[in-house]
Amino acid sequence: MVETRHIVFLGAFYAGLSASHYFLKHVYPHLPNEPEVQYKAILVDPSTKWFTRHAAPRAIIKEELMPTNLIFRDIESAYKQYGDKVEFLQGKATAWDERARTVSIQKANGESQTIDHWALILATGTKATSPLFSLQGTPHTDVESAIQEMRGRLASAKDIVIAGGGPAAVESAGEIGSEISSMERRQAASSAATVSLRPSREVPQSGGSRCTLQHESLLKSGSRRWQDKVILHDGEELETDIYIPAMGVRPMSEYVPDHLKNEKGYVIQNNSTLRVDAAGPRVYAIGDIGTYSNDGIMEIINGVPVMETNLKRDLLAAHLDPNGKAEGEDRLCVREEGEMQLVPVGRSKGVGAVFGWRIPSTLVWLIKGRDFMTSKANEYVSGKAVENLQGEGLRKPSEHGRQGH
Ligand SMILES: Cc1cc2nc3c(=O)[nH]c(=O)nc-3n(C[C@H](O)[C@H](O)[C@H](O)COP(=O)(O)OP(=O)(O)OC[C@H]3O[C@@H](n4cnc5c(N)ncnc54)[C@H](O)[C@@H]3O)c2cc1C
Ligand SMILES: *[C@@H]1O[C@H](CO)[C@@H](O)[C@H](O)[C@H]1NC(C)=O
Ligand SMILES: *[C@@H]1O[C@H](CO)[C@@H](O)[C@H](O)[C@H]1NC(C)=O
Repeated sequence: MVETRHIVFLGAFYAGLSASHYFLKHVYPHLPNEPEVQYKAILVDPSTKWFTRHAAPRAIIKEELMPTNLIFRDIESAYKQYGDKVEFLQGKATAWDERARTVSIQKANGESQTIDHWALILATGTKATSPLFSLQGTPHTDVESAIQEMRGRLASAKDIVIAGGGPAAVESAGEIGSEISSMERRQAASSAATVSLRPSREVPQSGGSRCTLQHESLLKSGSRRWQDKVILHDGEELETDIYIPAMGVRPMSEYVPDHLKNEKGYVIQNNSTLRVDAAGPRVYAIGDIGTYSNDGIMEIINGVPVMETNLKRDLLAAHLDPNGKAEGEDRLCVREEGEMQLVPVGRSKGVGAVFGWRIPSTLVWLIKGRDFMTSKANEYVSGKAVENLQGEGLRKPSEHGRQGH
């Protein structure tokens, strides 16, 4: 009888895509090839498309600035190169029994399915408050329609309130500021529009009881204009043409048992090996979802080769004996303390907001190269981004430490 061992990746975005491509390119070929024991990767995500998340602040303005077909990329077709070594399941993980080593999946077609995992990689990331800025653990069409709606409303809005103080808020303010002060727009609108930024602390986060976000869109009688109403913490009521909540992110970890999460909902892992030790053997967390990360892309680029080396060591050790433990030293993740750099936001000098965001210099392409992001996105989707990633972000545990590959 053939035994098929599932290597399950939950989430197929930056972290899940990078980890699964890396697995199929650099780990799978090293696994023993025996007729009676087969390995198979299973990728689970409710969204079949990649969404270029950091392009969102520009994408919400108008199609000409950031065409929809460039920010959404099909991910399933990128896995055809691996044949039947991998399967893509469009669905959402709704429960995980770490003792039985099974995950329940609510599939897009309405059916539910339980899959057992030999190894499990948690990569379900974080979601922004607004569907404008991230996938929400639902199909990408939710993001797409939110962007379309926003584009329609922005065209005629007179005042826009953005809540938050992080990159999504400030970049959006910069982009909208650039747009409303553009010539074209000034000619079209009878009077000037304003965009204002409200710090997150003034605005209720959705979730808590007293803090329920009372954010309603109502078609005001007579005015025939959409208005959003926001009630701030201090009771002040804000009425505005457009309200954009852009205040931080929350982990998408509802399916993870409580004892494996910290108080904020992030998955507790060994920040060095990236294993989730409390969940049994061969379980890992990568990307925003894990405690090792500060919710950035650098941690993914640094973390993937580390996690995969440990995964490979664990798989080889357990090939003949499920309780087999990898010998020698683990590969460890070290935090990048690179040079920091200031990055301006906004399309042209003197309009909109100019904001300094401190990020490692290696990430500057993400912002400076925003217009070229689409080619970079393709590399993540196709797996090219991880082809030569093996050496980065690694520290030799010791002179004689095992390096995997
Ligand atoms: C506006 C904006 C600008 C940014 N700019 C930068 C930047 O310049 N530099 C930088 O380093 N970072 C930036 N970030 C952060 C960066 O986008 C994140 O670090 C990155 O997206 C994290 O990737 P991830 O794969 O871990 O998680 P996510 O991007 O959150 O992806 C998670 C995936 O898991 C799926 N999923 C969710 N729940 C489930 C479930 N239950 N079952 C199965 N699948 C599920 C989702 O559909 C999604 O595909 C920015 C973020 C935003 C919002
Ligand atoms: C994390 O893993 C490393 C390497 O195996 C180990 O030395 C360390 O003790 C672990 N940390 C915790 C907190 O368990
Ligand atoms: C892992 O990192 C998080 C966030 O930086 C920290 O809160 C946590 O204590 C770390 N865990 C360990 C075991 O060091």
